[in-house]
Amino acid sequence: MQNSSLLRPACYRNDATFDWLYPERIQQLSKRHWTPMGVARKSAHFLANAPGKKILDIGSGVGKFCLIGAHYYPEATFYGVEQRKELYNHALAAKEAAKVTNVDFIHGNFTQIDLDEYDNFYFYNSFFENLDDNDRIDHQIEYSASLYVYYSRFLFKALDNKPSGTRLVTFHSLENEVPPSYQVVDASIDLLLKMWIKR
Ligand SMILES: C[S@@+](CC[C@H](N)C(=O)[O-])C[C@H]1O[C@@H](n2cnc3c(N)ncnc32)[C@H](O)[C@@H]1O
Repeated sequence: MQNSSLLRPACYRNDATFDWLYPERIQQLSKRHWTPMGVARKSAHFLANAPGKKILDIGSGVGKFCLIGAHYYPEATFYGVEQRKELYNHALAAKEAAKVTNVDFIHGNFTQIDLDEYDNFYFYNSFFENLDDNDRIDHQIEYSASLYVYYSRFLFKALDNKPSGTRLVTFHSLENEVPPSYQVVDASIDLLLKMWIKR
């Protein structure tokens, strides 16, 4: 019998092979800005807790979390919303190359989409770029502390309105967007990765 890992596209072997889906500039941003493969797999396992779940990555960048999650959890659908057109375009190209179909990328600000349409959420500290002058993805957009506060409050309210049982994963988060109605049920030893369920 054939080992199923032999049938897996080479891009899923490790972070370096996955990052080869992207141009060099995007690869260089990976360590700092895109989810590592192990974190993506663990997070997707938690969020795809039943068939048919719709999982949204808020600030999906070049689509790394969504594509890895979709590959390993084909019974869920992964969605990514990304404000930067360039990154959205890279996500679409990587989707073609990675040969996954249960992924949809949306170009826009997360405040412009209906968060009620999704069951569970992934959040890799997307708004922090507004507070941090170092290692920015680019200089194409406006950054400000007030935008950080606005986005965090917006997401806090949307998450608080979700039904009991809603799942959330945060990675490197300051947790300003996490309402007290969410309880940590699992975390990495360094506490950078947290799994939450709404009571
Ligand atoms: C740290 S990166 C994470 C990318 C992706 N989630 C991953 O884990 O590989 C955060 C992304 O959020 C995006 N972002 C920040 N604020 C956003 C907003 N208000 N709406 C949509 N995207 C946003 C940024 O452009 C950036 O690509």
